Amino acid sequence: MRIVLVGPPGAGKGTQAAFLAKNLSIPHISTGDLFRANISQGTELGKQAKAYMDAGNLVPDEVTIGMAKDRMEQPDAENGFLLDGFPRNVAQAEALDAMLDGEGMKLDAVLDLEVEEDEVVKRIAGRRICRNDSSHVFHVTYAAPKTEGVCDACGGELYQRDDDSEGTVRKRLEVYHTQTEPIIDYYRAQGLVVTISALGKVDEVTGRAMEALRGEK
Ligand code: AP5
Ligand code: ZN
Repeated sequence: MRIVLVGPPGAGKGTQAAFLAKNLSIPHISTGDLFRANISQGTELGKQAKAYMDAGNLVPDEVTIGMAKDRMEQPDAENGFLLDGFPRNVAQAEALDAMLDGEGMKLDAVLDLEVEEDEVVKRIAGRRICRNDSSHVFHVTYAAPKTEGVCDACGGELYQRDDDSEGTVRKRLEVYHTQTEPIIDYYRAQGLVVTISALGKVDEVTGRAMEALRGEK
């Protein structure tokens, strides 16, 4: 399956993507994670992206689309993928459509995670991520690690993202409403959107998502 996951910052896209990708045996492709990996490796691409990310703005399309395309062309993505954080504006959605068209492929579904703003602010404020593996995501109260600051899965150090400060979160939410939400209408016109509530326990949301996606196969 080829799936796009959409939803505001902190909706739980990364958390759900880890489970869904495993259940569906497709790679989880997160442009945010790709940028953060480039930043920690000190690459030129990471240097270009960092200032935009720290300010809560989108990284320019010229940089983002090429990076996403390179990742989608890897052999493990041949039979499907779960995109998290891409596309993030209509220009990126059009570029993705053109790319898939060129290969005679199409998307199967766009899964839209719905959650109100107060909740995403709480989720982001308490989020902690493992330095060894970005799919090891915790929350100081909702999904607390057994030992504070230490990843349950691998013992790695947990850290807070630079762009998770309150001011930057507000900016990211504004960018989501103005630039990313329009892609939901873009995909709705193609009959691809399934909306689910992202409230409740993590496994309840995964169950809802799997059920919604089964209907789209
Ligand atoms: P990105 O990394 O994509 O961040 P985001 O979209 O802001 O989303 P988040 O990672 O903040 O949230 P999430 O929905 O994955 O939530 P999570 O599962 O962690 O992008 C960062 C930046 O990179 C952008 O601002 C931009 O600058 C740049 N960028 C990336 N892609 C780009 C693109 N295509 N174009 C241009 N620029 C781009 O969950 C959050 C917390 O909640 C966790 O602590 C988790 O444990 C907890 N939680 C999750 N589910 C639940 C639940 N059900 N109940 C309670 N707690 C929960
Ligand atoms: Zn870990």
